Amino acid sequence: MPDPAETAAPLVPERPTLPRLRDAAAGCRACPLWETGTQTVFGEGLAKAAVMLVGEQPGDQEDVAGRPFVGPAGKLLDRALDEAGIDRKLAYVTNVVKHFKWEPRGKRRIHAKPNWAEIAACRPWLEAELAVVQPRVLVCLGATAAQALLGRQFKVTRQRGELVDSPLAPYATATVHPSSVLRAPDDEARRGELAAFVDDLRRVAALL
Ligand code: URA
Repeated sequence: MPDPAETAAPLVPERPTLPRLRDAAAGCRACPLWETGTQTVFGEGLAKAAVMLVGEQPGDQEDVAGRPFVGPAGKLLDRALDEAGIDRKLAYVTNVVKHFKWEPRGKRRIHAKPNWAEIAACRPWLEAELAVVQPRVLVCLGATAAQALLGRQFKVTRQRGELVDSPLAPYATATVHPSSVLRAPDDEARRGELAAFVDDLRRVAALL
């Protein structure tokens, strides 16, 4: 367990609400990612959403916009949610890590995977979001979120779509990250990946 003093824990307000959490997280320096990220990208959505979707970390466009899942992966997520019959406006969408971690490649900023120290430093924000929203269903998008929230041994390839016992929500599950659908090698593979992603989300819709 990380020392709480080395995490965001001391910054979490005593009586958290989503606006209070967002304000407090805006000044978070619990890990070094604030130095290279443009801003904290806090979660957004309904305060009493029945479903919480958790990704890895904001991407390049999210970092600039200050909002989660608004770039290419977000657009694919919107489409998949729509096909599964889940209204994003009635959900809460957030990330395990709330600053964009990137490496320069020429003029581009390339996504870099957050490490366990960064995930642990940021975790109090996610725990506070879970405590305020109290979703009926927690959906981890991709391996980073699944392993951070459902256990380090969790294998999305094997366990996607399964319900997992978790103290975090009455129902907890994981599926692929929408960016993995975008990375499929060709159109046919992409169609198949999208259909499987939508199927996983349909199972979530059935629980709402
Ligand atoms: N990928 C994520 O995991 N989260 C975002 O907000 C955007 C892309």
